[in-house]
Amino acid sequence: MLVTKQKVFRKFWYATVPVSSLEDGPQPFTLLGEKLALFLDADGRPGCLQDRCLHRTAKLSKGWIKNGRLVCWYHGWEYDRDGKLACIPQFPPDQPIPDCAVQSYRAQERYGYVWVALEEPLQPIPEFDQDGAPGWRRIHQFYDTWNTSSLRLMENSFDNSHIAFVHKSSFGDITQPKPEKYEVTETDWGFEAETIVTVVNPPNSERITGTTDKYTKRHMRNCWFMPFTRRLDIQYPSGLRHVILNCATPIDDGSIKVVQVLFRNDDEASCPAQELIDWDSAIITEDKDVLESTSPDAIVDVSRKIEMHMPSDRPGMIIRRRLLDLMKAHGEIEVPAA
Ligand code: FES
Ligand SMILES: [Fe+2]
Repeated sequence: MLVTKQKVFRKFWYATVPVSSLEDGPQPFTLLGEKLALFLDADGRPGCLQDRCLHRTAKLSKGWIKNGRLVCWYHGWEYDRDGKLACIPQFPPDQPIPDCAVQSYRAQERYGYVWVALEEPLQPIPEFDQDGAPGWRRIHQFYDTWNTSSLRLMENSFDNSHIAFVHKSSFGDITQPKPEKYEVTETDWGFEAETIVTVVNPPNSERITGTTDKYTKRHMRNCWFMPFTRRLDIQYPSGLRHVILNCATPIDDGSIKVVQVLFRNDDEASCPAQELIDWDSAIITEDKDVLESTSPDAIVDVSRKIEMHMPSDRPGMIIRRRLLDLMKAHGEIEVPAA
């Protein structure tokens, strides 16, 4: 499933760059193969334009901001947030500016990131009630480029079978390879998957789990938002909640931007943010290593031979079926043969 060949994926919101990264000027980002220039206008609102000047095609992301407009670094043409050409500095003051615009895209800020949709989105940005709620804090944990596909990260996010193996050095227990089963409830645009798993609780996770017990349990409410976002809500017996937003933003067919934001119902004194960043970064890096060893051209065809032997009610299979249905509904079913 090559994402750039499936136009329907252009109709969703994706987290791209941290808003804070735009404070010093525009930044480039590639989304589904489209080269973009992201910037903040005079009101601090994010803008997103095609990264290509109308004049001689210079990359606008290499320019700068002047009075909220994006200035091309080649000859200084200026564009507003909607991409409209607003100034040609070489023109005399009485010469009208041509009525033309560079392609602009929808952009908005959520959870500290700029979210972009290349076409009219089919769904809003997934909601996280914890954001800004009393008693909760938000920690930006992880932002990295991986050489894999968005589907691979989504499958992995709901795959409890890999924990005993891939995470045997952190919280997995290789003597317990059989995973607990998820209870899955499908929704219009994804599913909710709930399970309780027993995990190892080493000393460096005691402040994260809120217990010194050698083992503890994770009550996991894991939610998939089509196509490539998930929420993992972990509740420990201590009452601590560890709610993760993961985005597998498709850069192109072979690479993704992995965004991980954490919401916790505790404070810095009981568990420093850096400790939480270090803990989850080590775990997700274990996932990175194995996912980069897979083929990014992930096959979604649920009728291929090997898939016939997999239980069809498992989250990974549901993700494949639902994405296949989505692509069929939009007339795009170019998937590789089994
Ligand atoms: S290429 Fe952008 S102003 Fe000339
Ligand atoms: Fe994992």
